[in-house]
Amino acid sequence: MADVKVLSAEIANRIAAGEVVERPASVLKELVDNAVDAGATRIIVRTENAGTSLIEVSDNGSGMNQNNALLCLEQHATSKITDASDLDAISSYGFRGEAIPSVASVSRFTILTRLHDDLEGTMIQVNGGEIASVEKIGCAPGTCIRVAKLFYNVPARKKFLKSQRTEDFHIQETFIQMALSRPDIHMELHCDKRKVFNIPPSQDTRTRLSSFVSRDQVKEMMEVDYQEAGISVKGLCSRPGLARGNSREQRFFINQRPIIAPEINRAIRNAYEGIINKGQFAPCILYIEIDPSRVDINVHPAKREVRFREPQLICQVISHSLELALRQLSGSQQKLVAPTFLNPAIQVTSSRVSLSLDTAKNLSENNELNKQQAEARKDLTSVNVDSQISHQNSVDLTKSEAVQHPPRKEEVNPVPSSNAPQVNPAQNEVPESKPEIQSTSIEKKEFSHGLDKLDIISFYNSEYLICQGDNGLIILSLKAARERIVFEQMLNNYRSNIDHTQALLIPVSLELNHSDSHLIEKYHSQLSELGLGLRHFGANTWLLDSTPLSFPEDNLFGLIRKIIDLLHHSPESLKRDIHLNLAKTICKATSSHIKFNETSSEKILLELDKCETPYSCPQGRPVFINISDNELKKRFGRN
Ligand SMILES: Nc1ncnc2c1ncn2[C@@H]1O[C@H](COP(=O)(O)OP(=O)(O)O)[C@@H](O)[C@H]1O
Ligand SMILES: [Mg+2]
Repeated sequence: MADVKVLSAEIANRIAAGEVVERPASVLKELVDNAVDAGATRIIVRTENAGTSLIEVSDNGSGMNQNNALLCLEQHATSKITDASDLDAISSYGFRGEAIPSVASVSRFTILTRLHDDLEGTMIQVNGGEIASVEKIGCAPGTCIRVAKLFYNVPARKKFLKSQRTEDFHIQETFIQMALSRPDIHMELHCDKRKVFNIPPSQDTRTRLSSFVSRDQVKEMMEVDYQEAGISVKGLCSRPGLARGNSREQRFFINQRPIIAPEINRAIRNAYEGIINKGQFAPCILYIEIDPSRVDINVHPAKREVRFREPQLICQVISHSLELALRQLSGSQQKLVAPTFLNPAIQVTSSRVSLSLDTAKNLSENNELNKQQAEARKDLTSVNVDSQISHQNSVDLTKSEAVQHPPRKEEVNPVPSSNAPQVNPAQNEVPESKPEIQSTSIEKKEFSHGLDKLDIISFYNSEYLICQGDNGLIILSLKAARERIVFEQMLNNYRSNIDHTQALLIPVSLELNHSDSHLIEKYHSQLSELGLGLRHFGANTWLLDSTPLSFPEDNLFGLIRKIIDLLHHSPESLKRDIHLNLAKTICKATSSHIKFNETSSEKILLELDKCETPYSCPQGRPVFINISDNELKKRFGRN
């Protein structure tokens, strides 16, 4: 083996360039980062041939004197940190002192720079890392860096560049990220002498985002503004109708730094679970502020990846902030004009419940919270009474199934004697207290979405309602609506101490085989908590003696068999968020189990109106779609 020797600065720079400078867009990012760190209020970016011929970034920031301009070409030369302890709390974009020498080593590189108080500036030209000239020159205060012929001396690297269109796309994407990260800075992008973006400063996220996505889309987004555990989350999140097939429009900024963080994508997915379809992504723009010592950005030279000291807490706070934001639009008929279907409201999932435990712990000394919880409990009582009353008028299911359901207790005594919660045998088996209900995310409110005011035009194909809304036609899937209603009732049962079930006057006896009985035994306590009261009656026999309020009434035995079949096939997903997934499975079983008629469907509309999130079924599919008058006109070519 040859002797060990220290590599020359030139080779070291080129190696570093391999990591820092992946493509023209990464050069742009590094140069804009530097301009922002230099305190610029205006940054102009120009590119030619997708950055391969030229990337130029000029700023009106601090500028440099000649000494510093020469020094910044040296590896690990930086003005942003001085000792190792600074690494624990970095507030500038740069700190590694790598970008300038790396880029200069793989291009024809020019720095033009001038301090504001100096009369003249400096121009330094560098070819492939070698300084070619240094001269005094008259120029504007600030810095202009020109990177020409990128990778001219690294042909292997050049070969890996994608088509001009792809590289231009990356340039624009990077520019958008930078512009969104610092709304206070005026930014321009010119590609091949064409002005692509000219974004004046604006502290308003909506205004800045409107430069990059349609105004209509921005209008449809909801404000996020939440703080917890020293973490602040602000920005915008979209309603379900705006969901996309990829996560490109999910943008996050930690302390104004654009980052990639799969855990934040996951937190968003959790918040939207059950509201949008699987495989869809809700556009969000989230500005997260956190003490810099709680996040490590020194993970990769490109500084897009970060490591959180408390990743779970961050995700919980983000999920919670979105849940609260999604709640905002609930209760206004305005949402019936939403683009594809309606606005979301919050939906309680078991993952949220666990979040809430943490949340409650963090906030346990907060009196305001205690007050809110007391209010929430009061609300819960009134909702329960309401639900009971609504059940008395409840859906008339067709009696076509072979096995008739046993009469309900309420049918014997239809008016609840007091506001006190109902007692039912299954409830007795549920532990007295459910700690989860001490959370902020389960305040139970009475919801009204204006669905009760829709004019029903027609009952179609035994499973749809066609209605007239404030702004056009609304087509509602009764199956999806019924699933949503039962789903919320089950989760309400689980999350509150108030009973949202009805006891069966004559319990249904279920004689099962060994494996089915074993399965029921396994999920018995969770099923009871959701409102399906099952009692073991010896050997493989179980008694069903209560169900959620709006549960189907016909052929309960058949329905439980169906639930068991589905449970046998989905053991994996049930390991996580067990209550949520059980409730989803049960709803899935009920959907093909119910027949609708005109009277029952009107009542479904009333019950749906009281749901917290009436817009999607528990699997995330829409409950109704809205075809606006404008859209109708468009389709008929009349606009
Ligand atoms: N546009 C600019 N305006 C003023 N100073 C700059 C500019 N670009 C680079 N510099 C100086 O050059 C140094 C080296 O830059 P760079 O190689 O990107 O490393 P880092 O940003 O990590 O410090 C910076 O620390 C800064 O002092
Ligand atoms: Mg830098």
